[in-house]
Amino acid sequence: MALDEQAAPSPVHFHDYHPTPADLRAEVVAGLALPQKRLSPKLFYDAAGSKLFDAICELPEYYPTRTEIGILRAHGAEMARRLGREALLVELGSGSSKKIRVLLEALRPAVYMPVDISREHLLRSAESLAAAFPGLQVHAACADYSVPFALPVDDHEHPRAAFFPGSSVGNFEPPEAERLLRRVGSILGPEGRLLIGVDLIKDRRVLEAAYNDADGVTAAFNLNLLARINRELDGSFDLDGFRHEAFFDADRSRIEMHLISARAQQVEVAGQTFAFREGESIHTECSYKYSIDGFHALARRAGYEAEQVWTDREPLFSVHCLVYRG
Ligand code: AVI
Repeated sequence: MALDEQAAPSPVHFHDYHPTPADLRAEVVAGLALPQKRLSPKLFYDAAGSKLFDAICELPEYYPTRTEIGILRAHGAEMARRLGREALLVELGSGSSKKIRVLLEALRPAVYMPVDISREHLLRSAESLAAAFPGLQVHAACADYSVPFALPVDDHEHPRAAFFPGSSVGNFEPPEAERLLRRVGSILGPEGRLLIGVDLIKDRRVLEAAYNDADGVTAAFNLNLLARINRELDGSFDLDGFRHEAFFDADRSRIEMHLISARAQQVEVAGQTFAFREGESIHTECSYKYSIDGFHALARRAGYEAEQVWTDREPLFSVHCLVYRG
């Protein structure tokens, strides 16, 4: 991965690891050639997809965002005590950086380092955050955090902490999630703290409504993947020829999202032809839901000790402070 640092006229230092499009073509072509066609959920987040995801977070059915923000508001001071002041704080998948704003006042990190794959979105939100918190050093890294990368600022002057909100950990298969958390741990070093949001197992109706909203925003988010492939890989997907589907698989404790072909059809992508049967699906996302104990077991396998967990009353959602023991 090439790394560019751009000296922008703003207070934000911008580090570009160029996570796409070089990988996009290979990923999409390989995924569409599988017997169960698959596209990685990280491909959702181009500029249009990132905006649609922000709209999902405002939906009445999508409880995770507002519930997690409620937990951060209620317990921010205690979380800050756990994480320590003057930290080098890395946020994975920072998106619009909305959640960290709730904590920054209490946390007062020395350096804030948002990491996100969506370049424009990352820059805009990093700049608006730097404007709102003058004096805060902001180093924004455009990178795919699901693959190893070195931190652009690697001083060891400050205690290290990471923030991984939104239950994005749920979008990884559990063994991959374990590897990712271990990699984060090796960046944090021993005694580094990870504050992580994790969605909880609950009534199927609540879960399925969150991924099948009445306004069709989640459907548009899912279908935008095909629009992105058309735009960036010279694809010929007919967006009316596919429909969104999401359901909870209780045995695997995960929501699955699919795009279902309405008819038998052929689609061109990057000069290759892919055939679809009527009803055939492209599996686009898994969103794993955990019990508190189940998540703690995963965290232990990744080298962490669970220090504290906070939830809302029901509970719908959990935020954990984990300590990396190596
Ligand atoms: C980013 N991630 C945690 C979301 C989730 O709930 O799995 C992505 C999403 N997919 C559909 N709605 C939201």
